[in-house]
Amino acid sequence: MKIIVTKDYQAMSRCAADLVQACVEKEPQSLVSFPGGDTPIGMLEEFVSRVNQGVIDPTGLKFVQLDDWVGIGPQDDGSCSHFVSTRLLAPMNRPFADRFLFDGSRRDTIDQQLEEQDAFIRRYGPIAVEVLGIGMNGHLGFNENGVDFSLRSHRTPLSDVTKSVQKKYFGGQDLPLTEGITQGIAQIMESELVILLANGARKAEIVSKAITGPVTNEVPASILQKHPNCVYLLDQEAASLLPKDLPGLEIR
Ligand code: GLP
Repeated sequence: MKIIVTKDYQAMSRCAADLVQACVEKEPQSLVSFPGGDTPIGMLEEFVSRVNQGVIDPTGLKFVQLDDWVGIGPQDDGSCSHFVSTRLLAPMNRPFADRFLFDGSRRDTIDQQLEEQDAFIRRYGPIAVEVLGIGMNGHLGFNENGVDFSLRSHRTPLSDVTKSVQKKYFGGQDLPLTEGITQGIAQIMESELVILLANGARKAEIVSKAITGPVTNEVPASILQKHPNCVYLLDQEAASLLPKDLPGLEIR
């Protein structure tokens, strides 16, 4: 595992875009996956700007969404599909070759959508670059505490921590969301490159647990210790509880 510590959020976001760019230049027809949440906003802005300036060519790439809330869809502000559509797909001046997005509002087709996501990843995969955020409880996507590491695309009850954090995505409103849909740890671990982004002091404790603690499904992100090509890309605040002499740690 490589750990890159950057001075701030902007530097982290630029570095993430650099890593993604290098990867898609090497594999211009490949499958990529970016998360929702607040963490990747800067990276997505960089990515879109490089696409629109002709620096990154998306036209051979395929995109698969990471996760979403059951009960809300692309039309709803705060859903991950809305986030991906408005922050990535719509502002790009050239589209991806193909893409998969969930519609969490279509409760009757959730199981079918999960099968479709898995089929999409099998068809175009493995994922060449999987960018992830980390939840306050160490979740990856909606792989919550106690998750079975062998699962592929699946639905899951949301943990209490996730339920308490979720209102930040909905203008402070408490929505009755109790379930998530997500790529599974098996698909994440099969990705050729995983980049986990974390910024801010509030992530320091869980980042430290995930990197230096035991590998356990109680901290799902700890499984990345076993990934052969994983980069933890942090700002100084998120890295503040890590020992400075940790093997693989690089300060930029
Ligand atoms: C959310 C999403 C994840 C995201 C994580 C961190 O609940 N399910 O995909 O990576 O939690 O979110 P944020 O970047 O807003 O801290």
